[in-house]
Amino acid sequence: MAAEAEEIRGIGHSVRRKEDDRFIRGAGNYIDDIHLPGMLHMAILRSPFAHAKLNSVDGSRAQALEGVIAVVTGELMAQHNLAWMPTLSGDTEAVLVTDKVRFQGQEVAAVIATDPYIAKDALELIDVDYEPLGVVISPQQAAAADAPLIRDEKEGQTDNHIYHWESGDKEATDAAFAQADKVVSLDTWYPRSHPAPLETCGCVADINPATGQATIYMTSQAPQLIRTVFALVAGLPEEKIRIVSPDIGGGFGNKVPVYPGYVIATAASLLLGHPVKWIEDRTENLISTGFARDFWMHGEMALKEDGTMTGLRVSLDANEGAFHADAQPSKLKVGLFHVVSGSYDLPAAHVTADGYYTNKAPGGVAYRCSFRVTEASFMIERLVQNAAYEIGMDPAEFRKKNFIEKDQFPYTSATGLTYDSGDYQAAMDLALEKVGYAQLRKEQAEAREQGRLIGIGLASFTEIVGAGPHKDYDILGIKMNDGAELRVHPTGKAHLKISSQTQGQGHETTFAQIVAEELGIQPEDIKVTHGDSDDTPYGLGTYASRSTPTVGAATAMVSRKLADKARKLAAHLLEVSEEDVELAKGRFTVKGAPDKAVTIQDVAFAAYTNFPDGMEAGLEGVAYYDPPNLTYPFGTYAVVVEVDADTGQWKVERVVAVDDCGVRINPMIVEGQIHGGLTEGFGIAAMEQITFDEEGNCIGANFLDYLLPTAWETPKFELGETVTPSPHHPIGAKGVGESATVGSPAAFVNAVIDALWPLGVRNIDMPLTSGKVWEAIQNAQAG
Ligand code: CDP
Repeated sequence: MAAEAEEIRGIGHSVRRKEDDRFIRGAGNYIDDIHLPGMLHMAILRSPFAHAKLNSVDGSRAQALEGVIAVVTGELMAQHNLAWMPTLSGDTEAVLVTDKVRFQGQEVAAVIATDPYIAKDALELIDVDYEPLGVVISPQQAAAADAPLIRDEKEGQTDNHIYHWESGDKEATDAAFAQADKVVSLDTWYPRSHPAPLETCGCVADINPATGQATIYMTSQAPQLIRTVFALVAGLPEEKIRIVSPDIGGGFGNKVPVYPGYVIATAASLLLGHPVKWIEDRTENLISTGFARDFWMHGEMALKEDGTMTGLRVSLDANEGAFHADAQPSKLKVGLFHVVSGSYDLPAAHVTADGYYTNKAPGGVAYRCSFRVTEASFMIERLVQNAAYEIGMDPAEFRKKNFIEKDQFPYTSATGLTYDSGDYQAAMDLALEKVGYAQLRKEQAEAREQGRLIGIGLASFTEIVGAGPHKDYDILGIKMNDGAELRVHPTGKAHLKISSQTQGQGHETTFAQIVAEELGIQPEDIKVTHGDSDDTPYGLGTYASRSTPTVGAATAMVSRKLADKARKLAAHLLEVSEEDVELAKGRFTVKGAPDKAVTIQDVAFAAYTNFPDGMEAGLEGVAYYDPPNLTYPFGTYAVVVEVDADTGQWKVERVVAVDDCGVRINPMIVEGQIHGGLTEGFGIAAMEQITFDEEGNCIGANFLDYLLPTAWETPKFELGETVTPSPHHPIGAKGVGESATVGSPAAFVNAVIDALWPLGVRNIDMPLTSGKVWEAIQNAQAG
């Protein structure tokens, strides 16, 4: 019988990431590491124009180059009914252009060659006759009466408007504003940005002409969903499609959509009978794939004299680009912008949104956020700060006065969301204490007397993650429920197969810890696999911080299923009734006789060697989880900056981030996620923006022009935590991956505005480059 068990490194342990061994040894397996016999290479010709009629594409000179196997044009794709494809939000998108190009960088033709360099060289030999058309780059231009019609091929589409969406109670909100003592407003823009993963997108399509088996290795955050989409788009039988996403070098939402390159490579492999590899270069990734944000927002807040918030109005225009390609986590067009009332007890709110086509690449991916939560959170946290100053209150006091109180949860917001849990005061108090808020305000006043501009910025965000409950959340009608399959082998080692695709978040470690917690098998004895649609349960993929609330929950549920059977086996081994057996930390003991015990390993062996009559052999199972609600992580961030009024430069002095993501499975991984998110938030606030000129030329096409923060610029982060478990999640965890990206940009901008408010500066749109800050100071001083 078993000896005293060693400590099980389940939930709450900072277990070192199992996956890092292969990464730091250079043994990761990315798409470009895949080499198949007879493999050909594809390169894509992209449009230099943002909007232009395509008169002709002549590939004959390219075709004549030695090593070129085929030149693929829109016309050829059209012959196979593949020139257009459906998008995840039910729009259509050109695979290869047949009529006109609609954004710079759009796919015009492709070359298949024996060598990737020959394929690239051949692109220069393709002769294309373009006829430039008028260009639209902003929602305002798109809405103008004389704007060129971008989607003229769509039946019934007479303008560039895509959707109108509303949420909340307009009448109640109008009434609140009519009775308000004070109304504060803010116009702001969340710039177009790019997830910019280290690994660009790509695929290797391998269609066996003899069997019809299609194996497609691709950089996808959602392999199972993509399998179904491919079956629907290409008409291939779904059982013959296998999507494999090996190690993914960062996704951040960029690897959710189906890009034309995947479809062209697959069609080419089908037609040529060879595997075809396509790997984007950096510029292609930056100009043509999954942008985010580009939201123009107007917000108004109604207030009582004493600082009580009574109403919120927000309207926004979304720049969706030439095709509405992003997936929606709910049936509602701007997804989770419902959360725009944030952490505040707002009795009335009304939000409207309008989406527009423009001559930019498709946007709207869930870049480290749950589908517009980032923009919503930014809007409310900027508005709250300005409102506090307008009524002469300290922004921390103003927030505390209006927070949803701990005992109000579950709380139904004015836009109809049910927040599951929260303790906003606690997170705020801890952040204020850690940053030394009261003392800082004194130092700020003293510094100001000496002519130094210190700013203190706060943001108290509420995130909404874990899409989602089957009633409201689907993509193309497929419900957003995810699965986990667990097998415990005879020797007590286990194999967990999950539907989420890891792209750096450490799922191979944290999900093993969930099994460890439930069954008492050490995490290093549990192999976790993902990303192969032939070998993992169905699920809708990894994005928007949904893995832990959905797949993490399914992992706990399947472990509990196995624990039930294991208890029966233990009772059989211990020769007692099942009711008398208790499981804790991998040991099954007899109630009242704790020395009588067997381990999970003994039980696993018995499942294959010594099970009672009438019981099925084996210890394995699968569970799908349908979350009853989303989870609502939250936090308060405090940022201290010093601004140099002469140059507009601002330096971050302190960043204190208090996060609450419920129960932390692996505190070290959670901290890493928060560091990543804070860095991205800082990047957006300080320097990141994809710019376009008037002709729709994308200026941020490389990392010299599109500025990502490196370790050099990134400030030091001081972290804190509160723990408010999600009441409905099996282990009380809430997602965390994106929270810091959602919460932090407003804290950085608020800090700079805090420093400049006395000079008359009310807002600066991100990114706050020193030039823009300097200009804002000059404008404010000029009156
Ligand atoms: O959806 P995604 O995986 O990007 O994000 P997430 O579910 O928020 O989690 C990111 C990483 O942090 C995963 O490895 C989670 O298992 C881990 N995590 C944790 O250890 N404890 C939590 N309460 C939340 C996330």
